[in-house]
Amino acid sequence: MKILGAEWLATAAGPEGFPAPSAPEVAFLGRSNVGKSSLLNALVRRKKLARTSSEPGKTRLIHFFRVERPKLETHFVDLPGYGYAKVSKSERKGWQRLIESYLEDRPSLCAAVLLQDLRRDFSDDETLLIDWLQERGIPVLLAITKIDKLKPMRRAARLRELKKAINLPAANVIATSTEANIGLEELWKAIDVAIDSATSEPDGA
Ligand code: GTP
Ligand code: MG
Repeated sequence: MKILGAEWLATAAGPEGFPAPSAPEVAFLGRSNVGKSSLLNALVRRKKLARTSSEPGKTRLIHFFRVERPKLETHFVDLPGYGYAKVSKSERKGWQRLIESYLEDRPSLCAAVLLQDLRRDFSDDETLLIDWLQERGIPVLLAITKIDKLKPMRRAARLRELKKAINLPAANVIATSTEANIGLEELWKAIDVAIDSATSEPDGA
């Protein structure tokens, strides 16, 4: 994928801080520490665009990035990770409200990339989120992350298990590793399919 540039656009603690919805947008969401910021950086080949951390639960704001490709601008949105055990209930509610305030009312949103660690099973968080997004007509791409962490045999078996456990078309499930540089082109292709179909459909049709 040819990337001409990628830059930070805005950081928001609520809807008042969201930038104008001026380009097709792709949101990255998933459990804390699943690899959202790493995947976003790997897709645009900028090591430190979105902040990554070995300390989970650090991204508590919504970060918007502008990605320039030939004749095409896309916005990437790094959403705060959910499911981090060491935060209070009220803080968790606050995160949920923030994420929903974005997902519920964002006309430029073309696809949600939901991340899932290869080594974990889906929790209610993922299954409910997938249903919630699909009910709202937001296409979901499932990026299975950190596949370098398992040896090839075990990896293939886990991928089969996860694909079977989730209600998504096979083409929307992509195995990735930012460490081993796997699946990034495939994910870009799936993102572009979602952008194309969102931007070619006439409004209200
Ligand atoms: P929060 O913002 O806290 O929700 O986390 P995040 O989902 O943005 O995760 P982040 O990208 O910060 O990555 C968390 C940790 O996982 C970091 O230590 C990364 O280096 C590591 N990591 C991310 N992707 C991969 C991968 O593909 N392979 C391996 N081995 N480690 C990864
Ligand atoms: Mg992050």
